[in-house]
This record gives sequence, C-alpha cells and structure tokens, in this order.
Amino acid sequence: MKVLVIGSGGREHALAWGLNRSGSVSEVVVSPGNAGMEPATRVVPGSLLVPDVLRLAGDERPDLTVIGPEAPLVAGLADELRGNGFAVFGPNAAAAQLEGSKRYAKQFMVRHGIPTAAYQTFSEPEAALSYLESAALPVVVKDSALAAGKGVTIAHNHEQARAAVVEIFSSAPAEVVVETFLEGQELSLLVLTDGSDYRTLPPVQDYKQAFDGDRGPMTGGMGTVASAQLLDAEVLRNLVTSVVEPTLAGIRSDGMDFRGVLFIGLMLTSQGPKVLEYNVRFGDPETQTLIPLLDCDLGSLLAAVAQRRLGGFDLAWEVGASACVVMAAPGYPGRYSTGIPIDIPGDLGPEVTVFHAGTASVGGRLLSAGGRVLGVTAQASDIDAAVVRAYRAVAQISFPGAHYRTDIGGRLLQG
Ligand code: GLY
Repeated sequence: MKVLVIGSGGREHALAWGLNRSGSVSEVVVSPGNAGMEPATRVVPGSLLVPDVLRLAGDERPDLTVIGPEAPLVAGLADELRGNGFAVFGPNAAAAQLEGSKRYAKQFMVRHGIPTAAYQTFSEPEAALSYLESAALPVVVKDSALAAGKGVTIAHNHEQARAAVVEIFSSAPAEVVVETFLEGQELSLLVLTDGSDYRTLPPVQDYKQAFDGDRGPMTGGMGTVASAQLLDAEVLRNLVTSVVEPTLAGIRSDGMDFRGVLFIGLMLTSQGPKVLEYNVRFGDPETQTLIPLLDCDLGSLLAAVAQRRLGGFDLAWEVGASACVVMAAPGYPGRYSTGIPIDIPGDLGPEVTVFHAGTASVGGRLLSAGGRVLGVTAQASDIDAAVVRAYRAVAQISFPGAHYRTDIGGRLLQG
C-alpha cells in the first residue's frame, strides 16, 4: 500500500514510523510533515485545508489516507475523501463533533447513559459569570470549541473561573461548558473501531500540565506512559462495559460513520469511571508511546479499520511498557523562541526513538520550529525501566534551554 498521513506533529511521525515498519506498506507520504520524518518518509509541504488535501490525494492516489489532527476531521475531510473514492482512517464530520463541540459530547453522554460530570452550558458570558459566582470550587471551565488541548481550566477560585470565561468569549461567538470537578486518577483509553467491531489499545497516562507535580498551565501534553500494566483486568472490563460499549452503541444508534480511533479521556473516581472528554483521533503524545508497543502490522490494522474488516484482525501488543518525554521550546506553552540548534546523537541506546514535532532542517542543521519539539520515547519490560531509558536519552540530546518535565511516570495508578 501507499499510505498518505495528514499532519505534522510527533503523533504523525510515530504513525509514519510504524507504517514504514509494516510489511503491507511500500511507501509513506506525510503532508505537511516535519524535518525529522525524512528521509524514511517523503514529506510533501501543504496545508490541512480540505480542498488542498483533496488535491494532494488526487495527485498521490494513496491506497489509504490516515488523518492525524482533529481540525480537518471536524471540517469534513474524511467525508470528502470517501466521497471521492479514497479509503480513509478517520471519522466523518458528524462523528467528529464528539470532539469539535464539548456541548454536543456532553449531550451525547447524557442521551446514552454514559457516566460523566454534571454540567451546564452558556452561550452568553454574563450568564456564565453569574452562575460561577456561587459555583462550588474547584470548578472546570471548558471552551466548547476546539482549542488544541488548551481550552480547559480547573479553577480553584472564582477569579480563575472568571478569567477563563473572559478568555473563551474573547473570540466571540463562543460557548462555555462548566463542569463539576472530579477527583481521581486520570487515564486515556484509545479504542479502534470500524463502526461494528472494536479493539481497545493499552491504557495511557498523559501529563498535561507544563510543570512537575501537575502544576502550571495546560499544554497539549508533556509526556505519557503506556502499558497494560497500568490497569488490572477487572477495572478494564468495568471500563469497557460502563463506558466503551455504551459509547460505541450510541455512535451506531446516532448513525455516525466512525472508522478511526476514539480517544476516551477518563477519570477513575471512587464512584467508578467517568468520561472527561472524547477525542476523535490519536492522542499526541499518546501515539508516540503506543505505536512502538504494537506487535503487528500497523498498515494492515489501519486499513482494516478503514475498510470495515476489524472483526477479523488479530491485534497483538508487546507485554512491556513505553514512556515518552516531550522536550519543548523554552517558554512553551506561552510565547516561545524558535531556531534553537538541536543535536541528537545517532545511538541513544536500545529501544529509544525520538519522534519529531516542531523541528525544521535549515542548511543541513536541525532547528527547533515549534512549541513541542521532540518526543523522546523508550520501551522496556516495565514502566519504571521505560521512564529511566527515556530520561537517559533526553540527557544525551543537546537542545539549549529545552523545557521538559522530570516526573513523567511518577503518578502511576494503583493497579
Ligand atoms: N494528549 C492529549 C491529546 O492528544 O489531546
């Protein structure tokens, strides 16, 4: 197969890396891509806009197109590509509303009896501010629209809650979702589905705040650990029956075309699992830890999803664990500098892979070109060993001023 991957981040680098190792795949093309993907992958500069990607697909004639980010899914890229006869990994625009509108997702959960936090929605800032004056703290304030993982504020005082509302409505028209704060352990469960059958991926923990100890502003994700060892079999079974299956049944009964990966953000509370959010694509940096754990052909797997053949697919995972530490530009997620020279030694040790996100190659030099720059990923027999390997590799990379958390993997679940 010739596979076209749409996107330019660490997630897409991990997908391209996995596809390049697949016996079923003869060529991988990524657009817009980034410098670190070459030369293993052909990078075609471009945009994420639907007409541009349609034109590219027309030129390249891929056997399979894998859509990485959420914005083109919400804009209907999967619908348009399928309408033009292409095989696509990614849900249609109606299904992508599960991520594109937090209000829609909450209504879906209530309609289908899926456990989640109590909520209110507001389309006028005054009404939201007035409600928040007497809301119990902490309280969660979310931008209903896409916000690149940064639209959620956990407000510990009324001042923070007010500031979050003002920020969301600064790009009017907007909508805000206010939710009860949930206590517990946070976990991501990604589920591949072709609309009929499904397969769960190993659970992942994402470290979303900028600084150690889960302090500081939200980011797209500063690191992840993934392993079946994160959850015992009974907790996973409960999650599947109380969340995964009702969600997939709801998607079917609402008539959505979901051929892709559903990313379920969860809080494991003392009253059982509750859904924090749905995403309709692979996570970033969840994917950087998951793809190296896959013990089968990624190309065949994604094609089986796209062609509704997942039921017959024999999905296998390595028994070990995987960790990813994100090295970000100084200042991220606020204003950050670019153009910082980066040196990555050729040999960082066994089972270590550096996935590139915001990098560029200028005159043969590798330079930082974004907020999240590298995802340094390692596998080992258990989570602690994978984390040690990843940090050992981070220490060998020259990236002056790089910002990274030093506690990825330090918040492990209790079985
Ligand atoms: N790491 C969180 C996300 O991909 O949304």
